[in-house]
Amino acid sequence: MSEQGRTIVHDVPLNVAQQPDPYPLFERIRKHGVVQRVRLNPTLEVWMVTGYDEAVAALTDPRLSSSPAGVNGLAEEMAHQERTNVLMASMLVADGSDHTRLRNLVSKAFTARRIEALAPRIQELTDAHLDAFAARGTADLVAEFALPLPMAVLAELIGIPDEGQPDFAKLAVGLIMPPNTPERLAKGARARAELTEFYEPLIALRKKEPRDDLLSALCAAQAEERITDRELTAMAILLTLAGHETTAGLIANGVHALLRHPGQFAALRDDPSLLPGAIEELLRYEGPVSRGVARFTVDPYEIGGVTVPAGEMIIIGLAAANRDPARYDRPDILDVARREVPQQLAFGHGVHFCLGAPLARAEARIAIGTLLRRFPDLRLTDPDEDLTRREGILRGMATLPVSFTPAS
Ligand code: HEM
Repeated sequence: MSEQGRTIVHDVPLNVAQQPDPYPLFERIRKHGVVQRVRLNPTLEVWMVTGYDEAVAALTDPRLSSSPAGVNGLAEEMAHQERTNVLMASMLVADGSDHTRLRNLVSKAFTARRIEALAPRIQELTDAHLDAFAARGTADLVAEFALPLPMAVLAELIGIPDEGQPDFAKLAVGLIMPPNTPERLAKGARARAELTEFYEPLIALRKKEPRDDLLSALCAAQAEERITDRELTAMAILLTLAGHETTAGLIANGVHALLRHPGQFAALRDDPSLLPGAIEELLRYEGPVSRGVARFTVDPYEIGGVTVPAGEMIIIGLAAANRDPARYDRPDILDVARREVPQQLAFGHGVHFCLGAPLARAEARIAIGTLLRRFPDLRLTDPDEDLTRREGILRGMATLPVSFTPAS
């Protein structure tokens, strides 16, 4: 933290691996006020919202944009991104009618009913992944479970064949690293190029030979000119990325948190009816989006007693808001039977609310529920080991070595 005149600037490193536990920092920042100036890296200072009510207000305010196009001092970089970064054509950074059009094209695939219909298949995939190490008595739950399971589910939903798949988890690291060095920028661009090279021929194939999958449905929409080719590629990449590392983070962070709180582990294992509420609590307590989502001011914007000038970036601190003591009683306590009403913000809020939330919830419920049922004495292999976090802007585990009584 440093003081410039009267403005305090707090350092919040974007790469979570540099700061394994961000919650004490969020608490310190909030003590100065719910909207503060933060430095994400040596050259990038932005605003950060740490209060729950202010986060909800910002996320529902149409005056804030999701597009970085008009951000101060970045006009040249943004023009370059527009030309080279296919993800600039995704719904995540779209506003207004463009956003609605793109979101409506895929929203039917993620309704609660459609996801419920997927549940038996998610269960089969979960069992198959657990079968692979059940007899061994040990596993790395990140490499063998949390990362591959959501990818297997997404592959079926989107329509990605088993053969020829790139290493999505590795490419995602390239894309979710903060792009603040030339090396990282280059790595991100390479990852996008590799994903584009993977998807373009697959899209061409589905256009010729449609199947019963999301990619084929999007190709049909493209034929009716409801989505451009570039937007279609962006959509495929967005779904692959948005649904993978995040869900993996929820499963790994969730299991890790439970193993660190044996009383909570036992409560959930012994009463599976707690599961849906427990998933919400795990999302609140340690959600994968640990920094937050970005919004951009078009005009001067008043929030939390502060006026943010036009053309600035505001990070809506979802993880910080999820531990706001003004909103939650004992926010730093993990309580899988928590009865409080306020909805946690790990999936965001408002028009960009996570499209995949029903899928992520179903996957986490089945994955964590099955794990606890099949391995009731699951434990950390070395409870004293300080486990490292996965590199990037999303909060996940690098490894999660566990032990349990092997299945005979
Ligand atoms: C949007 C979190 C899983 C697809 C978002 C946003 C958050 C989020 C915070 C809002 C972004 C913003 O406001 O700018 C998460 C978390 C997940 C998860 C924590 C897992 C635990 C998924 C899954 C999918 C998915 C499984 C689908 C395959 C999307 C899409 C958007 C989105 C397409 C963009 C929505 C829009 O811009 O309207 N997610 N997500 N997410 N998520 Fe998720």
